[in-house]
Amino acid sequence: MIKTCIFPAAGYGTRFLPATKTLPKEMLPILDKPLIHYAMEEAIEAGLTNIGIITGRTKRALEDYFDISYEIEDAIKGSEKEKLLSDVRRQMEVCNFTFTRQRKMNGLGDAINHARYMVNNEAFGVILADDLCVNDECGVMSQMVKAYEKYRCSVVALMEVPNKDTKKYGIIEGVKLEKNIYKITDMVEKPDPKDAKTNLAIIGRYILTPDIFDILDNTPAGKGGEIQITDALNTQAKEGRCIGLVFSGLRFDCGSVEGFFEATKYFYERDFK
Ligand code: G1P
Repeated sequence: MIKTCIFPAAGYGTRFLPATKTLPKEMLPILDKPLIHYAMEEAIEAGLTNIGIITGRTKRALEDYFDISYEIEDAIKGSEKEKLLSDVRRQMEVCNFTFTRQRKMNGLGDAINHARYMVNNEAFGVILADDLCVNDECGVMSQMVKAYEKYRCSVVALMEVPNKDTKKYGIIEGVKLEKNIYKITDMVEKPDPKDAKTNLAIIGRYILTPDIFDILDNTPAGKGGEIQITDALNTQAKEGRCIGLVFSGLRFDCGSVEGFFEATKYFYERDFK
C-alpha cells in the first residue's frame, strides 16, 4: 500500500511574479482555496496521508496553512464562518506532515531526492500542486495507485499535448500495454518539437519506487544544468520498470496565467453556482 505523498514546493514560481515575490506559488488561490489544498485533497482521496513537503526560503506560509491559527480561530469561534475552515481542519486531522527545505534550487530530481528520509523505503506518490487535476469520480493519484498495484513499478501520468508544446514537458516513447497504459522505453526532458518522438507528455503526478533515490544520487545534471527526475526515471525505463498512465480527467496548468484563469472558471461553475 502506498501511504506517502511528496509535494515538491521549493520552486520560485517566476512565471507568477510579482505575486510570488512573497507568496509561495502553491498558496495562490483558485477562488477560496490555495493550490496545495486541492493537491492535498487528491492525495487523501488516494489514501496517501503521510505527507512530505519540500519547501524553501519564503515558503513558510505552507507550514502555517497546515497549522492552527489561534487568533483567527478565536475570532470566528461560534460563528457561521467556522465552517470555512472545516476542510483544511480535516486535512490536518487525517494527515501527518513533515517539512524539509531544499536550500539551493537544483531541479525537480534534486527536490525529490530530499524526500529520502520521509519515505520508508516504500513506493511513494509525488504531486506538483501547480498541475491542478480534477476527476470527481476517481482522482488522478487514485488512478495511478491502481496502475501501480497492477504493475509494481514507477508510474508517470501522461497526456497528449500539441506538438509545439513538447519543450515544456518530459516526453515519453513507449509500447502500449493497455488502452491507457504504456511501457516506457525512453523519456526526454523538454525536447524541441523537431526532436520530440511523440507528443505524450508527463504531467505532475508520479509514483516512484524507492530505488529512485540511489539513481538520483548518480544522475548527472541534465536540462538547464539541473538534476531532472525525467533522467532518473529513464534509468528505470531502460530496465523496463516505468509505465505511463494516460489519466482520465481534466488538468489545468496553474503555473501559467491562462491555465490559472481556466481553473478559476471551472471551480466557480462547479463549487459556487
Ligand atoms: C516538471 C518536469 C517535467 C514535467 C512537468 C509537468 O517540469 O520536469 O518533466 O513534464 O513538470 O508539469 P516543470 O514544469 O517543473 O518545469
